[in-house]
Amino acid sequence: MSLLEKINRDTTPKHIAIIMDGNGRWAQQQGEERLFGHNFGVEAVRETLKAAQDMNVEHLTLYAFSTENWSRPKEEVDGLMDLLIKTIGNEVEELHNSNVVITTIGNTSGLPESCQKELRDAYETTKNNSGINLILALNYSAKWELTNATREIARLVAAKEIGLDDVNDDLISDHLSTKGIPDPELLIRTSGENRVSNFLLWQIAYSEFHFTEILWPDFGREDLYKAVLDYQSRERRFGMVSAQIEKS
Ligand code: IPE
Ligand code: IPE
Ligand code: MG
Repeated sequence: MSLLEKINRDTTPKHIAIIMDGNGRWAQQQGEERLFGHNFGVEAVRETLKAAQDMNVEHLTLYAFSTENWSRPKEEVDGLMDLLIKTIGNEVEELHNSNVVITTIGNTSGLPESCQKELRDAYETTKNNSGINLILALNYSAKWELTNATREIARLVAAKEIGLDDVNDDLISDHLSTKGIPDPELLIRTSGENRVSNFLLWQIAYSEFHFTEILWPDFGREDLYKAVLDYQSRERRFGMVSAQIEKS
């Protein structure tokens, strides 16, 4: 029996964010180069996306390349960029047919031009779809995003377009690259690392975290269902006490 049948459709997260980690270790375990693991990671993305679609998740954000990842050996960075270009080119038609919208968050202007073009084309092709929003975090870091937002808000205040009192939670959210997207209820990280690595710091203020030892290339549909079931077993209190939650 698939765990899908156990999922409560009324409380499925609208937004799931995933730190896809462990490709390199997965490859090394098989005596292969790290890029071999990244290639197999693409299959895990396909499966995860299908599982998210099965549960009618509205937004799936995948951390694919951080601003810190530029520090890796050039060969790996180049291989990751090539993989990204190739994968988007190969998958866009099928994703379009399954009603997916492909978008990005992050400093995409820092990616190679060919990569930017694939991403623009993918967005243009899929932007009017009504299915799941697949958000690729590319050249992304939360500190980069928060710094940009701070700079832009400071500019608005300095230009007297807004007053200091207008600076609030909503205004800050509206200046992030996730503008208009609800915060993820669930954050998953694979590979046994229990850290956030500069991902969505503002947006995960009240997310539930699910850490799993599974290395990303081994992550499959049932693993996503399992993470959602784990999420559904939690009590989200938002600062209140249990008795208040039970009443509502
Ligand atoms: C995640 O896997 C993919 C990216 C960060 C691009 P890693 O490449 O970080 O794999 P490990 O953590 O070294 O095993
Ligand atoms: C985080 O994984 C970034 C992505 C998954 C794209 P890393 O493997 O780069 O994170 P650290 O450096 O181990 O924290
Ligand atoms: Mg890693």
